[in-house]
Amino acid sequence: MQTPSGHSVESSSAKRLVVLASGGGSNLAALLAAQQEASYGARVVGVVTDRPTAGALDLARDAGVASAVVAMNDFDDRAGWNDGILEAVSVFQPDYLILAGFMRILAPSVVRKFEGRMMNTHPALLPSFPGAHPVRDTLAHGVKVTGCTVHLVDDGVDTGPIIAQTAVPVLDGDDEPTLTERIKVAERALLVETVGRIAREGLYVAGRKASIGR
Ligand code: GAR
Repeated sequence: MQTPSGHSVESSSAKRLVVLASGGGSNLAALLAAQQEASYGARVVGVVTDRPTAGALDLARDAGVASAVVAMNDFDDRAGWNDGILEAVSVFQPDYLILAGFMRILAPSVVRKFEGRMMNTHPALLPSFPGAHPVRDTLAHGVKVTGCTVHLVDDGVDTGPIIAQTAVPVLDGDDEPTLTERIKVAERALLVETVGRIAREGLYVAGRKASIGR
């Protein structure tokens, strides 16, 4: 939406996104770019990270988005840290939580609070190659086609219902950095498209089947 002076204003109906990220935040950057278009239907209202040095924090600051650091070291135990995450996220009253390179496992108590509203992006075609080193594992296995997955978060590691996937070829001579980069290009496009569609059309889940729109 444009004001007469040409400034864009946020649509009040835009869904509120909180992005959890541990790293550089290129997926966050893609979401922030997409929301410049008011018709996108979603906007990032908060960024939460477990790492004080995460590049995602710089992106949030540059975009004028509030952020919070909830570092594991600042808590006595994992339960306390999970409570800290829940508190930090809840402040932003999110419609959806987007895990974009968040490299920690959240407790079931946190997952349950956002059941059906927490999505993760993963650089492999799940259910193949879940876990912390999917691209390395993909190359080690010698598969010829890999990709990226946006899925709902459940109590398992990368096991929730799959919402959307894009295939990416593995090329002769690929190593972890080259394949990671090719997947990430596809991943950013998939995440932006999927989150926008969910915000505009809704997400419906029946057992393991997740679908966007009715
Ligand atoms: C992304 O490729 C994301 O899928 C991956 O971390 C990267 C973060 O990139 N996540 C996982 O591997 C989670 N298991 P970014 O910081 O540039 O958005």
